[in-house]
Amino acid sequence: MMRPAPTRYRRKSSVSTTSKAYPRPAPPRQRTVLYTIIVAFIFVCILFYASPSVPVIQDLRLFHHTPTHKPPAQKNSTSGDTKWYSDWKWLNPFSATITLEEDRSVLPPLPQRPPIYTFYDADAEKGEKTKTAENKLLLLWRRAWWAQGFKPVILGRPEAMNNPLYESFQVHKLQPQLEAEFVRWLAWGHMGTGILANWLAVPMGPHDDHLLTYLRRGEYPKLTRYEGLGPGLFSGEKNAINAVIEEALKSPKLEQSRSLLDLVEHSAVTVEHKPDAIAFYDANANAEHYKAITTMLADEKAAGLQALAKLITSHLHLTFLNTFKDGFAVLTPYSDNAHILTEHALSLADTLRSCPSSPVPSSCPPNRQDCTPCSSISPPPVKMPEYFTNSSTVYTIGTVPHPFTLASLLASKKEITTRHIRRDTARDRWLTAVTENALGKEVGGASRVVSLKEIVAGEWGCARGLWITEDPPPNHKDLEYHFGFELSPFNVTARDPDTLPGSRAERKAAARTLHLQKDLLANAKEVLKERRADDEKTRTKQMVEAWNLADTEAWRFVRAYMAREGVERNKWEEEERAFAGAEEGRAEGWGSWFDRRLRRDWIEGRE
Ligand SMILES: *[C@@H]1O[C@H](CO)[C@@H](O)[C@H](O)[C@H]1NC(C)=O
Ligand SMILES: *[C@@H]1O[C@H](CO)[C@@H](O)[C@H](O)[C@H]1NC(C)=O
Ligand SMILES: *[C@@H]1O[C@H](CO)[C@@H](O)[C@H](O)[C@H]1NC(C)=O
Repeated sequence: MMRPAPTRYRRKSSVSTTSKAYPRPAPPRQRTVLYTIIVAFIFVCILFYASPSVPVIQDLRLFHHTPTHKPPAQKNSTSGDTKWYSDWKWLNPFSATITLEEDRSVLPPLPQRPPIYTFYDADAEKGEKTKTAENKLLLLWRRAWWAQGFKPVILGRPEAMNNPLYESFQVHKLQPQLEAEFVRWLAWGHMGTGILANWLAVPMGPHDDHLLTYLRRGEYPKLTRYEGLGPGLFSGEKNAINAVIEEALKSPKLEQSRSLLDLVEHSAVTVEHKPDAIAFYDANANAEHYKAITTMLADEKAAGLQALAKLITSHLHLTFLNTFKDGFAVLTPYSDNAHILTEHALSLADTLRSCPSSPVPSSCPPNRQDCTPCSSISPPPVKMPEYFTNSSTVYTIGTVPHPFTLASLLASKKEITTRHIRRDTARDRWLTAVTENALGKEVGGASRVVSLKEIVAGEWGCARGLWITEDPPPNHKDLEYHFGFELSPFNVTARDPDTLPGSRAERKAAARTLHLQKDLLANAKEVLKERRADDEKTRTKQMVEAWNLADTEAWRFVRAYMAREGVERNKWEEEERAFAGAEEGRAEGWGSWFDRRLRRDWIEGRE
């Protein structure tokens, strides 16, 4: 409303002064307009700069021409006090111009997760120990595929029985191996379009691997199997899957054959090249590469399966380390005063860089025999740069502080005054430090925050970094599902000042600094929690936010992005729990794991 007016005035005035010899004074009406505009402009400036308690959203609304209708809140779009709105306009610098809510961040739309199915026969006779070990492998399988952008689903016999083709299958007397294969396909055919994988086939490769990218698109025009993987992986559409089952059931060789694919025309199933990024730990691979596992499986199945789970975990971790072979960058701007902010990130990097133990030391995944084994690489370095650098071989961990937290740490004070902020501090100090190298000194906060959003949540960046805030810190399980493998537990411990270099006096000073920073951080977390509008702390917080619009936006964005990841996963686990029991305590509750209603019935709301 305000911005176009002065421009129009200027244009008019330049026209009126073209005849230079006789500059006409502006007519009275125009002068009135001029004064109105000047007064209005000054008013806006005062509002923006001088009145910190005016909510940020109001400021933003004056500068951007926004619709006045708040978009309706989306389902499952909050977590605690964090709120978000998923939309294609997520790269707008300031979310509030779209959501019209000060603290609701616009995030990129959640990518669709295509389903990947695996079949697990819980009815088969096995000992408790074996079931527990298999359960561990199923969890590992789910986590690894989830981290690569898929929606893992474990199927059982009930799904197969619900396929209309089940009846015509049942009347035949088949070889046990073929019968098992039919049941898998019937379950898959019942669920429909998607991927069918063996639960010993896990993704091991970079996020942008060719095949993984293709599979994530969720469209499989041809029923496909993959060279070298045998029954490890298929992709296809519902009609094609059921057509193959039907064709196989009509084959005259049905009762002698041992494999479903022998019963259909070769052209029914396309064969793709051997994938780079799928590791399949079937008996052949184990016999060829991991003899110790094969021996253990023969001696005692449960122990062998447990060792296999350990081996797969170590290979998932190794694949991650081989992808980011130049190590980690933990962003540490203002490290003298704000070191405490990055402790969580540093502890995480330490955990990620250390080699996991493996039952077959120095081994490589079956799909990548030319890997650099973990034991032979020295732990990759953890660098602590101030700013972000774009690299495909470095994994970045960034901690975005709330501007109040940063201001308090940088001033070494709990009480932050308006005077201090306005007089002594530049705007958006965190973003400026982190992006200065890439964007230079001249760019404003809006461009910087857009650049950060792209790094955090863009197609390229999201697989090459983790972004957290000082509060809440990420939880361990969220991290495991983010990376796709089990992480050894770690404590966030401040580096012991006694181990630092320097004289005794210097170490003592370092210990004092650390203590002070801890105290300031704890206080800042309290301030951020304050919700009462009339509270002094809230006013201070809002004043700092208004001064640092872009830093505040970055903090909210990263917080919402992390929170949404957790909510998405919890929702999926809730859905799966209806069929498969909770992840926690499933070992003892194993009996009810498959005591479940039919999946399709549940989805359609039938009993
Ligand atoms: C990083 O570089 C790659 C290509 O080298 C590019 O595609 C990507 O957009 C860049 N990412 C960012 C956040 O600048
Ligand atoms: C973390 O701290 C807890 C108690 O403070 C301790 O029991 C545990 O062993 C520690 N874990 C690690 C990995 O250091
Ligand atoms: C998602 O929303 C539904 C209802 O809208 C609720 O029952 C469910 O608990 C929510 N799930 C999560 C993970 O927040």
